[in-house]
Amino acid sequence: MAEGMTIGKITGGLHGEVRIPGDKSISHRSIILAALGNAPVHITNFLHAQDCLSTASIMRALGADVDFLGHTDLTVTGHGLYGLHEPTRVLDAGNSGTTLRLLLGLLSAQPFFSAFTGDASLSRRPMGRVTEPLAQMGAVIYGRENNTKLPLAVAPARKHLQGLTYESPVASAQVKSALLLAGMFADSPTTIVEPVKSRDHTERMLAAFGIETEAQGTAVRICPVQPGEYRAPEAIEVPGDISSAAYWLVAGAVLPGSSLLLRNVGVNETRTGILDVLQAMGAKLTLENKRTSGGEAAADIRIESGTLHGTSFGADIMPRLIDEIPIIAVAALLAEGDTVITGAGELRVKETDRLAAIEKEFSKLAPGAVEVTEDGLVIHGRCELERADCFTYDDHRMAMSLAILGAAGEGVELVHADCVNISYPEFYATLERLQK
Ligand code: S3P
Repeated sequence: MAEGMTIGKITGGLHGEVRIPGDKSISHRSIILAALGNAPVHITNFLHAQDCLSTASIMRALGADVDFLGHTDLTVTGHGLYGLHEPTRVLDAGNSGTTLRLLLGLLSAQPFFSAFTGDASLSRRPMGRVTEPLAQMGAVIYGRENNTKLPLAVAPARKHLQGLTYESPVASAQVKSALLLAGMFADSPTTIVEPVKSRDHTERMLAAFGIETEAQGTAVRICPVQPGEYRAPEAIEVPGDISSAAYWLVAGAVLPGSSLLLRNVGVNETRTGILDVLQAMGAKLTLENKRTSGGEAAADIRIESGTLHGTSFGADIMPRLIDEIPIIAVAALLAEGDTVITGAGELRVKETDRLAAIEKEFSKLAPGAVEVTEDGLVIHGRCELERADCFTYDDHRMAMSLAILGAAGEGVELVHADCVNISYPEFYATLERLQK
């Protein structure tokens, strides 16, 4: 695919339907948990994008049978809860924090050696948030910068992992999930307490495998799992990713004349912060055909363009919209009045420092409209937009957000545009199609 991409100004709005690709978080978890079962699991609407393919290739290297039947349709067959084997090569997590953090948890509990690498972005990201609590459970992990950065190596624990009660300083589903996966193999219960509840896909999918976790407030507890308890379901249907739907929600709201129907969007309440924020901004969106798909809520969402106004939100809602801040910033730029975002310090350790990247690149298109603070943004809406060359920092969410901002303004030239392959390979083709 082309490295650079020209996005033109869109004048007639976006129209039609989008079938939203599978949820990234749930797709990762479907392969990982299926690989620990002992019967084939048929996974449908899997996200066929680079991050999830990194997980697929690692689970294969660990001995699971991963067979693609189609682009988004596969079976994963494990060899039981204790059936993973020592990989003969270094495991490459690519750009994927979810792959690396969840698998550090799982592999900490295995009786064999494994070693991880990843791309330049992942190599900069903090892994101490999982390696430190895992070490407290007895895991043996070595890596750069005092065992907190890639490359990381996991050696067999000297004895069984011990259960732990851990108060995580960050609300992170990746940390929680890593500890839940390790906790399945520990000698006593493990409890993770978060400052604010993060997405609960691991807990929900564990339930589909017969493993009940106990949630109380922002705490989750898992008991050691006995092999007979873990039962692979025949099928897992992955709902569409609200984080991918987010680009169309905002594009539909801000591009005059738009009317879109987004089909099959996961609306688990730990993920729907963007719907609350867009509604608070005055967006015309409605949920239809609400249903449950594979233990997760899903719906179709209709969005029509209209006038948005600024809003404020902070730490309490942040885990429910953590990946949507770049595209919410686009909505804020095109809204009337100011938007104030606080409690978003986690954005500094995503695929790139998203707060800095938003300020730098959005300011090229909207001079003077974005102020960055230590943990948030102040965005002055309804500014004049210009055309510019923008960097994506190889961050898929920056690329897609800049594309929508450019389309709403005078266009944009994206440098390193192909990073959308991390989570949404069809993004540019869909943007093109919806203009017809
Ligand atoms: C994810 C959790 C979030 C999110 C990431 C996916 C997951 O990260 O930003 O894109 O699948 O668990 P944190 O848990 O670090 O906030």
